[in-house]
Amino acid sequence: MISKDFLRKLLIVTGALLITSLLAYGLRSDKNKKPKTDSSVTEKSEVKKESVSKRPQLDIKTATSQYVLVNKTYGIQPEDYKPGDLVVPDVATSSSDSKDEQSIREIIRPSLEKMLKDAKASNLDLVMNSGFRSFKSQGFYFNNYVKQSGLEAAKKFSAQPGHSEHQTGLAFDLSYADRKCYLDICFGQTDAGKWLADHAHDYGFILRYPYGKSDITGYQYEPWHFRYVGKDVANEIYEKKLTYEEYLKNLGLITL
Ligand code: DAL
Ligand code: ZN
Ligand code: ZN
Repeated sequence: MISKDFLRKLLIVTGALLITSLLAYGLRSDKNKKPKTDSSVTEKSEVKKESVSKRPQLDIKTATSQYVLVNKTYGIQPEDYKPGDLVVPDVATSSSDSKDEQSIREIIRPSLEKMLKDAKASNLDLVMNSGFRSFKSQGFYFNNYVKQSGLEAAKKFSAQPGHSEHQTGLAFDLSYADRKCYLDICFGQTDAGKWLADHAHDYGFILRYPYGKSDITGYQYEPWHFRYVGKDVANEIYEKKLTYEEYLKNLGLITL
């Protein structure tokens, strides 16, 4: 016969064992859980990685890149580069210009056409005077300026062949149809000059040689010269009042 006393002891021992194993299980499963702080750190660092990889990786060296940097330091490679997609846009151009010089790259055509159409809606009659210029024609211009003004003066407003943004097909000079303040700094004070300075970024263009930034750009103020870089970059440059060189320096892509 099993005594009542033995049954009572068995019940106590079984109960104690049950409680011990439940406690042990509880502790172990706690250890297996990831601490909350750990998981939030992981999530944060994943977000960080993502935003770094989303930062634009600008190709500033390839001639066909819309971000190509062309200035006195950075020349176009190869130096006799000519874009393969030159087109004459549906805007007023200067009839005395060659067909090449009335052209720009197809990738900027819709933006240029829209900008000049919108300018016209604001009563500003604009003409594109110089779009693409070949290595050869840039050399022709530069040499003429040297003859007229001397080398040092010419270098302040004209690029040497292989170093002009006009050779990329992404830049152009604008003027009034009646040539008021034609290629003159007074253009910046006209309604057209002001409208362009305020709105060009909305079409992806930047005023490439702003006032007071000659030390950085290498050229005097040119309120008529615009360069395509796309809306995102143009907008940031406009909002932060930067030159293209300063923008690229901030991205760590060049030193000044
Ligand atoms: N006027 C600009 C700097 C050029 O010649 O490209
Ligand atoms: Zn805007
Ligand atoms: Zn120009």
